[in-house]
Amino acid sequence: MSESIRFLMCPPDHYDVDYVINPWMEGNIHKSSRDRAVEQWQKLYYTLKDHAIVELVEPAKGWPDMVFTANAGLLLDKTVVLSRFMHPERQGEEPHFKAWFEQQGYTVHELPQDLPFEGAGDALLDREGRWLWAGYGFRSELDSHPYIAKWLDIEVLSLRLIDNRFYHLDTCFCPLSGGYLLYYPGAFDAYSNHLIEGRVPAHKRIAIAEADAVNFACNSVNINSVVVMNKASKDLKQRMTEVGFQVIETPLTEFLKAGGAAKCLTLRTTEPVLEDVHANEPIESRTIRMQGHLLDAGIMNRALDLVVDNGGSFKVLNFDLGTERQSTSCADVKVSAPSHEVMEDIMSQLIDLGAVDRPQDERDALLEAVIQGGVAPDDFYVTTIYPTEVRIDGEWVRVQKQRMDGAIAITRTGDNIIAQCKLLRDLEVAEEVVVGVEGIRTVRKQDSREKRNKSQEFSFMGAGVSSERRVELVVEQIAWELRQIRDRGGKVAVTAGPVVIHTGGSSHLSWLIREGYVQALLGGNAIAVHDIEQSLMGTSLGVDMSKGVPVQGGHRHHLKVINAIRRHGNIAKAVEAGILTKGVMYECVQQNVPFCLAGSIRDDGPLPDTKMDLIDAQTEYSRLIEGTDMILMLSTMLHSIGVGNMTPAGVKMVCVDINPAVVTKLSDRGSVESVGVVTDVGLFLSLLVRQLEKLTSPIGVTTI
Ligand code: ARG
Repeated sequence: MSESIRFLMCPPDHYDVDYVINPWMEGNIHKSSRDRAVEQWQKLYYTLKDHAIVELVEPAKGWPDMVFTANAGLLLDKTVVLSRFMHPERQGEEPHFKAWFEQQGYTVHELPQDLPFEGAGDALLDREGRWLWAGYGFRSELDSHPYIAKWLDIEVLSLRLIDNRFYHLDTCFCPLSGGYLLYYPGAFDAYSNHLIEGRVPAHKRIAIAEADAVNFACNSVNINSVVVMNKASKDLKQRMTEVGFQVIETPLTEFLKAGGAAKCLTLRTTEPVLEDVHANEPIESRTIRMQGHLLDAGIMNRALDLVVDNGGSFKVLNFDLGTERQSTSCADVKVSAPSHEVMEDIMSQLIDLGAVDRPQDERDALLEAVIQGGVAPDDFYVTTIYPTEVRIDGEWVRVQKQRMDGAIAITRTGDNIIAQCKLLRDLEVAEEVVVGVEGIRTVRKQDSREKRNKSQEFSFMGAGVSSERRVELVVEQIAWELRQIRDRGGKVAVTAGPVVIHTGGSSHLSWLIREGYVQALLGGNAIAVHDIEQSLMGTSLGVDMSKGVPVQGGHRHHLKVINAIRRHGNIAKAVEAGILTKGVMYECVQQNVPFCLAGSIRDDGPLPDTKMDLIDAQTEYSRLIEGTDMILMLSTMLHSIGVGNMTPAGVKMVCVDINPAVVTKLSDRGSVESVGVVTDVGLFLSLLVRQLEKLTSPIGVTTI
């Protein structure tokens, strides 16, 4: 028996399942047998006594979970951090444990009210004493970890629990002597698993399967080479034996009904300190301010959810609720993350939601110079579609050429500071780029409840096929906006795929161009080839467009057409030569509507106009969509996604496709400005033209 190892246990005199605070307790209220519990507890007690000294704390009536002494507190040497239970059902245990610790001469530290931490159930010392593993996610708050690090002067590694069956760290994680670790990886998020793998070499990790995990195999008491647990599979026992451990099984099924087993029923009171081990500052915190229709628009939920979903935790410091329908709310939220990396991840998403620093915390953006042309510094801030500002020398500067997936480059000429979005490939050596997530904010429109509801009515998607009447309603709205944009001299860009031609949309799109509703056309080789094929030969990919049937030898048509255009040099020259006399491309040339055809690997020909250099094509696309008010995306996923990436928020995007998945993908930019229409694009265009004609002439004369 090792005289130097001691445990604290609490006899199960008052043990019962009285309430439900974890999934194991569900359906088990008053279902455990006291006699069997006593018997099982005693068996554990005597087993441990063979290997260590076991002390007892007097059980208190009315606190049935007090048997789980692992949750009394966390101790190291003669210092203890008392637990602050998350659930009121267990908070009454705190004074009893506190009294015991004081009697034994421990220095007792108590966490602030409302900062839950559940002791050794959620914090486990590396058995070599090198650091402390601390869990959070269900019971203990991440923000308790810095206190522990400070009071116990030890490095704390925070692990996030994500499976509510394993709500305490000791239910799925058990450091063993010799640097081994018995654990269930499925209970942790990816970041935590990464952290574990970084500290414990592969040959020392004993990862167990779910079947052992749900038998609480990780909830073991380890004394030197002995490991005491409820139950282990043959395979697990064998693996443990192979690395020199002796597994002792002792059934604890009555305690499993409350969500605990061997380790939970004990608290090791002799934990050695290593001389050269000290606290670190693992947890980063930052206070952000959110303003706007936080509740109405669901922004608050989204913000708090994203903090937790990404492995952080939060505390709402204050929340001024806007009381009138139109008034906005303001909340200050302290966000904590287990590492700088996670913090940056969370912050960049909060910035998208419109989070800002409190005025007293505002800082300048961090800048780093580009060392290699076309390559940003590692930590560069990745831009989004939202209007962004960066703080440089104490001033907020609006970022120009807003687009997503770029970096923010800063140029200074004298006192003048210019911030603009740049693609990685355009970054030049020595140019300064914004890194990190400080001094960056996005400017979000504060849509009132009315405005939001209106736009929702306008947008619908993802509901499978839209009913005809719904399509008509949306088309009416779009027609109205197109009309307004045209009348005020605004700009509309169209991305169109060949389906527009196949579905008979050519004449309608031609009409839109002719009537001045389109200011730029973006597509690929195919839309132009099929459009010209239809104009010259009456077929689209060999199908007779008036009869809808394939024409003999029609599959050769499109190559004939490509050849004809090549003969004249390009599309404009073919128009000039009187070869091409109608259709979408013809109208573009006639109306001076610029177009850009971006090539791809599968292009036949291609047409001389098709840009096979994709960098050129991207540059041209982005030039053409500059200043657009609306983009109509007509059945072309690839070109539309390309365009979406270049388009700042605020530009209305209308995505039309027969495939609901495509519509959802394109419209899902998290902004109210996109509208999805699931329908046949030819039909959509014909409805649109009809509606626009109605707006022009009250009797609705068709001019096609
Ligand atoms: N019913 C108790 C609770 O939910 C069980 C505690 C188990 N203790 C532990 N260290 N895992 O709090």
